[in-house]
Amino acid sequence: MASATESRYGYRDVSDQNFDYMFKLLIIGNSSVGKTSFLFRYADDTFTSAFVSTVGIDFKVKTVYRNDKRVKLQIWDTAGQERYRTITTAYYRGAMGFILMYDITSEGSFNAVQDWATQIKTYSWDNAQVILVGNKCDMEEERIIAPEKGKHLADHLGFQFFEASAKENIQVKQVFERLVDIICDKMSESLDTDHPPGGKNLRFTDTAPPVHQKCSC
Ligand code: GTP
Ligand code: MG
Repeated sequence: MASATESRYGYRDVSDQNFDYMFKLLIIGNSSVGKTSFLFRYADDTFTSAFVSTVGIDFKVKTVYRNDKRVKLQIWDTAGQERYRTITTAYYRGAMGFILMYDITSEGSFNAVQDWATQIKTYSWDNAQVILVGNKCDMEEERIIAPEKGKHLADHLGFQFFEASAKENIQVKQVFERLVDIICDKMSESLDTDHPPGGKNLRFTDTAPPVHQKCSC
């Protein structure tokens, strides 16, 4: 799946140690909800309507900047098919954040959310942060799951909630930004220190801070 520079075998990825933090993130949910499409949209800004079901697991990396720190995101895209479950759950450990995805046009994928949440609870760290994403919100005419239903379930599970579209590039970047933000907040909480310099309102970008910008370390 990943390009030469971005796959686990990629030279640049292996050699690039130039970051302040590394966050391991996982995208999970039923097959065909759009996990791979969501990652491709975020990392490469591409989308294809062809469905090539993921085999096992793969990842892409993307570096973002928060509070003038380089945060390297290692984003794992898991196969939704049941037969890969043993492989994929082995990667939950050590993940700091999850994007749990369903498809707003698929009741089955929504009904499976509770099971996916249980998997997170079983296999991941207690402090892992989760965002529930209802993908394919561009398909309004085929919608089966109302946004309120998604929000209600997210509230019940203690997760944040977004509706998004990998196809139309709706709320994709925002989901990742929010996930990084809540991981950072959780980190500063568990370090029992003040919030990062500048507090929660500091901007999160995917471009390097200008050279003249004063370091907030
Ligand atoms: P597995 O790898 O089997 O777990 O599936 P997946 O969740 O990775 O699904 P994938 O990203 O391969 O997408 C499945 C199908 O849904 C493909 O045909 C995509 O083009 C389509 N798709 C993904 N996201 C969207 C979206 O936001 N809107 C629409 N309309 N189609 C989408
Ligand atoms: Mg996939």
